[in-house]
Amino acid sequence: MTSYVEVLAPGKVNLALRVGSARSDGFHPLNTIFLALNIADTVTVRAVENTEITIDCDDEDVSTGEDNIVYQAAMLLREHTGVEKGAHIEITKRIPIAGGMAGGSADGAAALVGLNELWGLGLGDIELSELGADLGSDVPFALLGGCAVGTSRGEDLRPITCSQDLTFVMVRSDEGLSTPQVFAAYDKLHEGAHEPASVLELEEALRLGEVPVIAPLLVNDLEEAAFSLRPDLAELKADLEKVAPTVILSGSGPTMAVLAGDDANSLEATIDAAGLDSFRATGPVPGARIIEVG
Ligand code: C5P
Repeated sequence: MTSYVEVLAPGKVNLALRVGSARSDGFHPLNTIFLALNIADTVTVRAVENTEITIDCDDEDVSTGEDNIVYQAAMLLREHTGVEKGAHIEITKRIPIAGGMAGGSADGAAALVGLNELWGLGLGDIELSELGADLGSDVPFALLGGCAVGTSRGEDLRPITCSQDLTFVMVRSDEGLSTPQVFAAYDKLHEGAHEPASVLELEEALRLGEVPVIAPLLVNDLEEAAFSLRPDLAELKADLEKVAPTVILSGSGPTMAVLAGDDANSLEATIDAAGLDSFRATGPVPGARIIEVG
């Protein structure tokens, strides 16, 4: 009998995030290009004798209650399959919390993958992705990984080719940003019905894999909204642009992504020397995947 399953759950950056006006359900239609990055949380699910779902996390800022997305993932799987098992779920955080890199979604995706294996449910990728979409808009991509165009609220995915690995120096912020608040700020700044802009040009550039063509096409429509809530981020972006030309907000922020050219080492050293909290991340990498079963 399987006693534990360990799953690696990658974070992401949106290489392009084009936003339309809110739909009647409150979500915003997107044209986005996701890139899965090699910064990953680890989620380990362990068999227990009872039907309880319990959670441990090495970061005390993460709730271990019923509001944690891994708890919701477990409940969703139980509802969907009728299985009545419990699990103890351990989360090791490496992806910034509330950072715009889909750390929570990655954990949710990993819990779906891990529990599917631990409980012997035999659900396929499509079924897991559909359940993932119920957990959150970014969860299907956290399952899929690689590079993909996302439409609708981001859950409708089409894998694309990214011929060139892209490396970013990601700059953390002390405080997180709330995604709903950033979208609400976007609505204030962009009144009137509008469709999200196209990402086809970037899709083609990624297929060709030439960084000088890709770099100027990186774009995030949520930047202005995030900066309206956190003016310090606009200053940070301006400072980072003095070091490297391509700087974008990651997702709904506040993490900033600085595209590294050939010399990621010296870029990282310069950003470090400025006293900023940063780490390096490269993509594409695969989505949530099992790394150990015992
Ligand atoms: O799907 P998820 O639960 O991650 O979304 C969190 C919140 O982000 C939503 O409640 C909504 O306010 C906002 N959101 C949005 N449009 C999207 C995705 C998220 O408005 N496409």
